[in-house]
Amino acid sequence: MASIFDQRTLDFISHSEAQTRRLGARLGELLQGGEVIALQGALGSGKTRWVQGLAQGLQVHAPVTSPTFTLIHEYHGRHTLYHIDMYRITQLAEALDLGLEDYLYGDGVCVIEWAERIAAALPRDHLWITLYHLDETKRRIVMHAAGERHFRLLRDFHRLAFAMPARNPA
Ligand SMILES: Nc1ncnc2c1ncn2[C@@H]1O[C@H](COP(=O)(O)OP(=O)(O)OP(=O)(O)O)[C@@H](O)[C@H]1O
Ligand SMILES: [Mg+2]
Repeated sequence: MASIFDQRTLDFISHSEAQTRRLGARLGELLQGGEVIALQGALGSGKTRWVQGLAQGLQVHAPVTSPTFTLIHEYHGRHTLYHIDMYRITQLAEALDLGLEDYLYGDGVCVIEWAERIAAALPRDHLWITLYHLDETKRRIVMHAAGERHFRLLRDFHRLAFAMPARNPA
């Protein structure tokens, strides 16, 4: 079950790769364009799996592969998805030279792996997701919303992904 430390933070465990994708897809279903989703987590923590689910929720049909070498992949679904990977970026200036801000402040959805490398360039309103490797198949996922827009997104995600089905009154 997910727990909420405060209204802006959601903390839960994914027990499998498939569950991480499904949860990513739930978030993807809610996206309306213009969201910025920052992903932080060690190699193999599940960032790309989360993005693959997110893309599915956005009805992207093309296969989503890691943009580690190309830095940005663009996909077309209900909204344009920019999958950005900052693993190879060591200086924020390099990312800015690539036109990062055009993506971050555009109409598409931006999801960024290794976002801590460009944290200073993020819009104030964004969703920050940290993934922790617990064991072979378990990942702790902590989502934190900064700003009103992503606060509403996180609240809706919480309802969609974790709400108990309504019970009929006895
Ligand atoms: N609960 C889980 N959630 C996500 N991935 C899992 C889980 N359990 C096991 N895995 C495995 O962990 C790996 C996650 O790989 P993924 O490419 O998503 O990581 P990443 O964080 O994007 O790494 P990188 O920093 O190299 O881009 C996959 O091999 C996947 O099968
Ligand atoms: Mg990855």
